[in-house]
Amino acid sequence: MSTLFEPFKLKDITLRNRIAVPPMCQYSAIDGVPNDWHFAHYTELAKGGAGLVIVEATGVSPDGRITNGCTGLWNDEQAVEHAKIAKSIKKTGVVPGIQIAHAGMKASANKPWEGDDHIPADHPGAWETIAPSAVPFGTESLNRVPRAMTKDDISRVQNDFVAAAIRALDVGYEWLELHFAHGYLAQSFFSRHTNQRTDEYNGNAENRGRYLLETMRAVRKVWPENLPFTIRFGVLEFDGYDEETLQDAITLTRKFKENGLDFMNVSIGFATPKANIPWGPAFLAPYAKRIKVEADIPVGSAWGFDTPSLADASIRNGDLDIVFVGRAHLANPHWAYKAALDLGIKQPEQILPDQYKFWLERYHRRNA
Ligand SMILES: Cc1cc2nc3c(=O)[nH]c(=O)nc-3n(C[C@H](O)[C@H](O)[C@H](O)COP(=O)(O)O)c2cc1C
Repeated sequence: MSTLFEPFKLKDITLRNRIAVPPMCQYSAIDGVPNDWHFAHYTELAKGGAGLVIVEATGVSPDGRITNGCTGLWNDEQAVEHAKIAKSIKKTGVVPGIQIAHAGMKASANKPWEGDDHIPADHPGAWETIAPSAVPFGTESLNRVPRAMTKDDISRVQNDFVAAAIRALDVGYEWLELHFAHGYLAQSFFSRHTNQRTDEYNGNAENRGRYLLETMRAVRKVWPENLPFTIRFGVLEFDGYDEETLQDAITLTRKFKENGLDFMNVSIGFATPKANIPWGPAFLAPYAKRIKVEADIPVGSAWGFDTPSLADASIRNGDLDIVFVGRAHLANPHWAYKAALDLGIKQPEQILPDQYKFWLERYHRRNA
């Protein structure tokens, strides 16, 4: 039986505990270049004591960004700033990870606090959106009809993923996550709602998984064997087809594993607004466990694992290998340290950097 504060080893990487910060967009970059905000934000999260921090959905190309504030990793200027972030995260004893992404039909949107809607197509700040088919997401605010991708578009985006992965490695990230979830490009190939192609990328579940499998295989070739190679995947939509979708996701995850996937971050499809999601604490745990057991692969999951006892229980009962804690880390970047205190872990300060550890050990002894 493992516990939340036990290390987790994957390939040559050991997380000092099973708490991870999932990717969370900051919508604060200019031309995809991370800046002081990102440096301070990720450093702050890293010094809070988690084992892994994954940097936000980072566009593999300009058109792959969700908003024009999203980070990118398609040029050297961006790479220089990412290198500073990866180094700073690592310096605190945390493994630096990155999620690379193409937003597909949900790209070219305003920042959440500026509307979260598609930028009107004729606005100078807008760009063309692409997707498997000319099918919009379908909410009032995200209703732009994307252009159906040609085979050349597919190859271009896959090459962009490969190039971004090479840069991610060069700048010092040690954990790679491909964003195959949340209604973005890869998920929209997998989803029966958004993929209406008539070629080999649709027709059955195997074909709907083809783009995802091809992309992961291409990236696998350039990402080293000794570092974790992971995917965040929306394994169901809560749309009434849940068991079928989950079965398809399990079958595809087995193929991912055969082709070198090390770990799955289990998430939701978000490819259709017609979903009825049963939000609640740890509601994805049973589905994550199915992926773990039936595809025989280590898993993590986010969405409501943010109370220390629940996070610990999810590891102890074997539902998850890693717990992703998102918004609670925005509320308290030292969430992991707080969890260690709450759970009565011996020497909880051990997960903090020296600059804090030294003083807080004495502080707590005095106040005990
Ligand atoms: C501000 C914000 C930005 C997010 N950006 C991303 C992202 O870049 N990539 C992603 O896969 N999920 C993203 N998410 C989803 C989170 O990774 C996570 O799944 C979600 O917050 C649920 O976990 P929680 O209940 O612990 O907060 C974002 C969530 C928030 C709140």
